[in-house]
Amino acid sequence: MTETQISIQNLNVTYNGNHALKNISVEIPKKQITAIIGPSGCGKSTMLKCMNRLIDMTDNVTFSGKIIIDNEDVFDKKTDIINIRKKLGLLAQKPTPLPMSIYENVAFGPRIHGVKKKLVLDETVQKCLAITGLWEEVKDRLNSPASQLSIGQQQRLCLARGLAVEPEIILCDEPTSALDPVSSQHIEQQLLKLRKDYTIVIVTHNIHQAMRLADYVIHLYLGELVEHGPANDVFENPKEERTRAYINGTMFSDLKIDKEVDLKGNICPYNFVLAKQALHELSKGKVLKLVVDDPLAVTEVPRGMEADGHKVMSVKQINKTDWEVVIQKKE
Ligand SMILES: Nc1ncnc2c1ncn2[C@@H]1O[C@H](COP(=O)(O)OP(=O)(O)O)[C@@H](O)[C@H]1O
Ligand SMILES: [Mg+2]
Repeated sequence: MTETQISIQNLNVTYNGNHALKNISVEIPKKQITAIIGPSGCGKSTMLKCMNRLIDMTDNVTFSGKIIIDNEDVFDKKTDIINIRKKLGLLAQKPTPLPMSIYENVAFGPRIHGVKKKLVLDETVQKCLAITGLWEEVKDRLNSPASQLSIGQQQRLCLARGLAVEPEIILCDEPTSALDPVSSQHIEQQLLKLRKDYTIVIVTHNIHQAMRLADYVIHLYLGELVEHGPANDVFENPKEERTRAYINGTMFSDLKIDKEVDLKGNICPYNFVLAKQALHELSKGKVLKLVVDDPLAVTEVPRGMEADGHKVMSVKQINKTDWEVVIQKKE
């Protein structure tokens, strides 16, 4: 077992009576990439905000539990918040360059922490821009405003700015969701390289990205910890049905649906007949989507279809009562 970098113990967060994180206990391994996955609103960003104490900036929030980093409890009154934020760099969803030059963006953190020597600052700026693959692209225009960079470059600049204060941990909250595919790939490549020296926690709703990057996975759903473990185990052999459904549902969400049938309000055995009939009307390899609201149908329809040799692509809960079952007809 690898060493733990962040130990989260019985973490609870409530916003205005909304219980956003429910008694979460999980260990985040050192110098690995941990992906936090789960649908929107399940508490992923809240978990990151607790780690770096950005949660303090929120009104009407209560939190309890412990987050231990290097033997220090992040929530302890004696803990130096500045020090915590220095230790945990944050890469946000949208690039947030400061309204200053490229150079000054990277030098900003070290300056705040008291570095004055031009030579030292120059070295840090070059090193951090090089790590994020930006040096060659910007070395001739270090004094131009950061806002002139492309969005993808701005995000890499933000990563460089974070690295300049020598964090131990890099937190990323959907760091590529505002970027084009090529820029996203750049960021992913940097993160894979940085894993050797840093502990990385990435929130992503892109399951493919989680598969490409993660060594360790945490699956949250409605504020609960559903499952956590090494990425291979979670992705290939999830212990929890909810994880399997989430992974499949997300992976196949862009699948072309050839026929859609609403079976809500039908009792289960009847559903099954209607479902088979709908599939019968499709040609080989085509995809059928069924919407069901009977709990028995949610398990029995996919099971029956699989027994008939069809491929169940996903079973996903879409609201409190309804489920989507996507099935591909046997080739
Ligand atoms: N500042 C806030 N004030 C009130 N509720 C919030 C606040 N931030 C998040 N929430 C609520 O907490 C839950 C978890 O939110 P969040 O951590 O942002 O989820 P995720 O990042 O997984 O989308 C949601 O129900 C959200 O509406
Ligand atoms: Mg979020």
